[in-house]
Amino acid sequence: MEVVILPGSKQIGALAADAIEALLRRKPNAVLGLATGSSPLPVYDELARRHQEKGLDFSQAHAFALDEYVGLEPGHPESYREVIRREFTDRVNIDPANVHSPDGTAADLPAACEAYEDSIRALGGVDLQILGVGTDGHIGFNEPGSSLASRTRIKTLIEQTRKDNARFFKSIDDVPHHVVTQGLGTIMDARHVVLIATGAQKAQTVRDFVEGPVAAICAASVLQMHQHATILIDEAAASSLKLADYYRHTYDNKPKWQSI
Ligand code: F6R
Repeated sequence: MEVVILPGSKQIGALAADAIEALLRRKPNAVLGLATGSSPLPVYDELARRHQEKGLDFSQAHAFALDEYVGLEPGHPESYREVIRREFTDRVNIDPANVHSPDGTAADLPAACEAYEDSIRALGGVDLQILGVGTDGHIGFNEPGSSLASRTRIKTLIEQTRKDNARFFKSIDDVPHHVVTQGLGTIMDARHVVLIATGAQKAQTVRDFVEGPVAAICAASVLQMHQHATILIDEAAASSLKLADYYRHTYDNKPKWQSI
């Protein structure tokens, strides 16, 4: 796990975009894993800017969303399929047919989850997965207690997550209770994961998953077992880390040729 502490969202967005740009240059048909929520927005803004100003090309790329609410009607503005389209994929030249989301409206949800796993596998797996982290340590919607080996499946949201996400809806009563999410095992198969966390409200969560034990009670802690996990955080989110100075020292002295 590499922990990089940066001054703010702009620098985080730029560094994550550097990794995605380098990936697309060496593998134009790369498979990207996309998260929704607030954390990845600076990355999507920066990628859209590089596409518009520098012609960064997504025409052969593929993308898989991490998760989706169950039961929101197709086209609902807060369905993650719509959010990903609005916040990112409509702003670059990725082929809409190459952008995949779990189907939260499927009549047979278990079959749809299996099909989602198959489609990720058929494209050779995710090259770079963008992640945020919930205040309870979830990644995707793998709430506390999720199996560390889980695959795409239906999950029930914890009340704290519904409260956290109520800001996107008219009222908390409109936040669905159920979601479909890639599992922790699915996320662990990505070749590189880049998790973004900002703000003081994430400080304890970051401490728990970076420096606490690997345990299902804090799903993101499974990333300690990943071979290439990069954690991009701002000073506020880093404020409870025991080894913050060591992470800063390591990054400041990183060889120039070595990217994240
Ligand atoms: C969203 C997702 C969630 C969010 C997490 C943090 O697709 O998978 O795990 O990343 O809830 O959300 P923000 O970034 O809004 O704090």
